[in-house]
Amino acid sequence: MKVTFARLSGSLIAILTFAIGCSVPSIVDESTLESSRSLAHSFGMRLKTELKMGLEEGGPVQAIAVCKNVAPQVASELSRQSGAKVARTSLRYRNANNAPEPWQARVLRDFDQQAANKEANAPLEYFEQEADGTIRYMKAIRTDGVCLACHGELIPPALQESLDRDYPRDLAVGYSLGDVRGAFSISWPPPDRNSGS
Ligand code: HEC
Repeated sequence: MKVTFARLSGSLIAILTFAIGCSVPSIVDESTLESSRSLAHSFGMRLKTELKMGLEEGGPVQAIAVCKNVAPQVASELSRQSGAKVARTSLRYRNANNAPEPWQARVLRDFDQQAANKEANAPLEYFEQEADGTIRYMKAIRTDGVCLACHGELIPPALQESLDRDYPRDLAVGYSLGDVRGAFSISWPPPDRNSGS
């Protein structure tokens, strides 16, 4: 009995997965890809603007607060507005809240490999639809000159002191220009199958 049931449910799952996979027209993927790109872009622009203002107004020590407070705020604001899970992540993270999930770590390792093979600053993107309907997007964030003060090889002592205070287990140092510092991650939950359809 058990075996029969297991076999039956196994094939039902296979049929369902197939049916769901086929019922998603590629146009949905395109528009979700565009929405994901646009969310990653907005997140990046907001952070750049805030970081620039923070650096101009108070210098790098004060700008740490921007990264610490503003980044999670913008991420949850964009998540609320879009319904996707919007985040930043990295293999060598400063804040453990940004540690990658296994699928994100896989993509980040792949980005590192591609970055080593491709020309500097080539855009690196990932987009995939899972069998359960989850759609995942990631876009690599490269290290540029502004980032080096807080993520580079030579961190000024006053800055290092503040970082040590806030992030005693900081992994996000020692980067060079053009390195993949991390990635924006946009994850769309599967459509709600109970919503009247
Ligand atoms: C003023 C210092 C400062 C500068 C400049 C700075 N960062 Fe950060 N960065 C931080 C801090 C602090 C965090 C941890 C934020 C948190 O607690 O979520 C962080 C976190 C991150 C994260 C999330 C993953 C992690 O390590 O926790 C990424 C990605 C990142 N920074 C990329 C950049 C990039 C790219 C630049 C340059 C455009 C940059 N940062 C410039 C201080 C800085």
